[in-house]
Amino acid sequence: MSTLITNIGELMTQDREHQVRRQAAVVIEGERISWIGDAAAAPAADTVVDAQGRAVLPGWVDSHSHLVFAGDRTAEFEARMAGQSYAAGGIAVTTGATRQASDDELRRLLAARVAEAVAGGTTYLETKTGYGLDVHNEARSARIAAEYVDQVTYLGAHLVPAGVDPEDYVRLVCGPMLDAVRGQVQWADVFCERGAFTEDQSRRVLQACRDAGLGLRVHGNQLGPGPGVRLAVELGAASVDHVNYLDDDDVAALAGSWSGWDPATGTGRRGTVATCLPACDLSTRQPLAPGRRLLDAGTQIALASNCNPGTSYTSSMNFCVTTAVLQMGLSVQQAVRAATYGGALALGVEQGQDRDGHRAVGSIAVGHRADLHVLDAPSATHLAYRPGMPLTHAVWRRGQRAI
Ligand code: NIG
Repeated sequence: MSTLITNIGELMTQDREHQVRRQAAVVIEGERISWIGDAAAAPAADTVVDAQGRAVLPGWVDSHSHLVFAGDRTAEFEARMAGQSYAAGGIAVTTGATRQASDDELRRLLAARVAEAVAGGTTYLETKTGYGLDVHNEARSARIAAEYVDQVTYLGAHLVPAGVDPEDYVRLVCGPMLDAVRGQVQWADVFCERGAFTEDQSRRVLQACRDAGLGLRVHGNQLGPGPGVRLAVELGAASVDHVNYLDDDDVAALAGSWSGWDPATGTGRRGTVATCLPACDLSTRQPLAPGRRLLDAGTQIALASNCNPGTSYTSSMNFCVTTAVLQMGLSVQQAVRAATYGGALALGVEQGQDRDGHRAVGSIAVGHRADLHVLDAPSATHLAYRPGMPLTHAVWRRGQRAI
C-alpha cells in the first residue's frame, strides 16, 4: 500500500541539507518514505492525501520522558508556584504510588500517556524506569515500558529510597537490579545531583551499566552547578539532560565531544548531546537551559518533554519548540531540528536501524521511517507565532495514520 501526501506548503525535512521544500509531496510505502519531490512531479499512489498547503515536519522524537508512574503531585506543584523550590524528594511520593499500582493499571496509564504524546505529533519515544526503586518494581517498570515505547532507559539510580543505605543501594543498582532489567532496556541513566547521587556513585552506576552493554545518559546540572556534564562527556554518554547550570568548562567539554563529528554528513565520532527540557525548566522555575549558547559553541542539542508527574507534566513537544524559540533564542529551524534530528541523535537512531531493525527517524528522507507531523499551518514558524494553538493536524507513525 502506498500513500501520496501532496500539496505540502512547506516540507521541513531536517535531512543533511536542512532542506525546506515548497509545493512538495511525499510518498509512503509500508513503513518507509519511498519518494520526496515536487508535488507537480509526484508519482501515482494507492491513496492520495491533499495537505492543502499545510506544513509537514518529521514527527517529534521525544528522547527524555518518565511515563511509567501512578499517582499525582498537584499539591507539590501548587506549593512550588507559591514559592517553594523543587527538591528531588518528591520522587519518593510517585514511587510509593507506582509500587501500589497493579500491572494493568500501569499499562492503562502508560498507554494513555503514549496516545497523548502521539496526538501531539510525537512519533518516537524514549521513557525511563525510576519510580520502582527496588528490584521487583524496576524490572516491572522496564517490562511494561518496553511494551509501549521505542526505547527504554534504566533509571534505578533516580533516588536512594528512604531508610536504605546509599552505598547498599548503589550496589543493588549495579548488581541484582541491573540483572533484572537486562533485555528490556537499551540505556542507563543516573540522577547526578545534590540530594540524589554523588559523582562517585554516579560513575560506579554508569560504569557497571556500560559493562553490561547499555548506552549511557545522565541527568546533570539541573538544580545547580555540578559534575554531571563532565562525567557524561568523560564516559562517552550519548546525552546529558537538563544542563541548566553550565560554566565555560562544561560548554567546552560538550562542544569538544563533537570535534570528531562532521555535522554536514552526520558521520564521525559521536559526542554527548545536550538535551534541553524547557517545560521542566518553567515548571520548576529554573533558568532555561542555554540552548543557543550550546549550539553556537558547536554542541549538538536535543529538545525533549521530560514528561513526568514532578517537574514537567506535559508531553507537548509543540510547547517545547515554542518555548525554545520564544525564550531560549533558537530559530524555528534550530528548535524543530533539536526536537526531531537532535532527539534521534541522542537516541542513536538518526541513521541506520534501531533495536527492532526499524529505520532512521527524526528526518524526512527516502528510506527513513515514515513518521510525519502535519501542522494546521502553512509553516513551522506558526508553532512560535501562534503559541498554544492546537496546530497538530495529522500524524503518520511508522507509515500508519495515527491522527
Ligand atoms: O528529570 N530530575 C530527575 N528526574 C525527573 C523528576 C522526577 C520527579 O520529580 O518525579 C526530572 O526532572
